[in-house]
Amino acid sequence: MSLEDAARDVREMAYVPYSNFKVGAALRADTGAVFVGCNVENVAYPEGTCAEAGAIAAMIAGGARQIKELVVIADSPTPVPPCGGCRQKIAEFAAGDVPVTLLSMNGARLDTTVAALLPGAFGADHMERG
Ligand code: THU
Repeated sequence: MSLEDAARDVREMAYVPYSNFKVGAALRADTGAVFVGCNVENVAYPEGTCAEAGAIAAMIAGGARQIKELVVIADSPTPVPPCGGCRQKIAEFAAGDVPVTLLSMNGARLDTTVAALLPGAFGADHMERG
């Protein structure tokens, strides 16, 4: 199954009683394994957990550490942009040149990269002393 189809399928599983906005994410790790996530909201924190964060958590729990490709899909008028927190989480586990495909259910598509989503990213190298 393609990453796009995996993201599309898992989007249907989203738990979104507060936003009614379903998001699906699918990533391929360096091991070749595919991990998926959907957004999961709750009454105390209605923004809940993003689909991208769910896919990353599944990857870590599954024993992989490196994202090689990521697809995100939502029913938005333009391809859904990952939130700021998710951009930092993605950058933690992906090189800057890793492709990210943002999709809308209406067929719109944006092909970008991790570095383009988070230019000037804070990284572990910034904590090194001279
Ligand atoms: N959301 C995601 O899951 N990923 C994104 O890239 C953008 C936003 C979710 C969080 C929340 O459940 C809903 O969309 C509205 O913010």
